[in-house]
Amino acid sequence: MRKDIFYFEKPGKQNTDETLRLAIRRAEELGLRYIVVASSTGDTAKKLIDMLENKDIHAVVVTYHRGFYREGEDSMDEKTEEYIRERATLVKQSHILSGLERSISRKLGGVSRTEAIAEALRSLFGHGLKVCVEIAIMASDSGAIPIEEVVSIGGRGRGADTAVVLRPAHMNNFFDMQIKEIICMPREKR
Ligand SMILES: Cc1cc2nc3c(=O)[nH]c(=O)nc-3n(C[C@H](O)[C@H](O)[C@H](O)COP(=O)(O)O)c2cc1C
Repeated sequence: MRKDIFYFEKPGKQNTDETLRLAIRRAEELGLRYIVVASSTGDTAKKLIDMLENKDIHAVVVTYHRGFYREGEDSMDEKTEEYIRERATLVKQSHILSGLERSISRKLGGVSRTEAIAEALRSLFGHGLKVCVEIAIMASDSGAIPIEEVVSIGGRGRGADTAVVLRPAHMNNFFDMQIKEIICMPREKR
């Protein structure tokens, strides 16, 4: 099989529109039922939802866990969350590739095996790809997607710059995950 990969020069949210376009196109070609996307404020999720109008693909939006920035606070405002919940599935839960270990590393130093996996993905393939992997597990564990091929979309801080086709896995079977295709990613990771 011969496939094209689209490389952005640099990571970041300037690549959002093109990433979403390429992701939807590939999901349609493969007949996939779900697109999973990371969205902190809801901006990227709203863009995806708009672009999926009249298409037979379900958007699954994974957002930061409550308290990520500040205790008891969400990263998305209430109105945006309501808007997204009416049109897509919203997943808000503990982050799989940091988890409780983050509290221990922050307090006591060192690094956990889970954080080492996250850092390897980030450093070698970019933040966006690490996010694609993480949110696919979160979406699977919360029951928002079945274990079947989906498109997963992540970015660097804000927006989207990476999209992959993957077979997700639950957190207790991480190594069952398979990244089947890279649709787009930044060529320069930092
Ligand atoms: C669970 C989760 C983990 C994330 N981890 C990272 C990360 O490690 N590095 C990074 O640059 N961005 C990370 N992000 C940000 C996303 O990749 C994406 O750029 C952002 O959520 C888009 O938000 P927006 O809709 O406000 O543009 C993460 C987002 C979520 C929801």
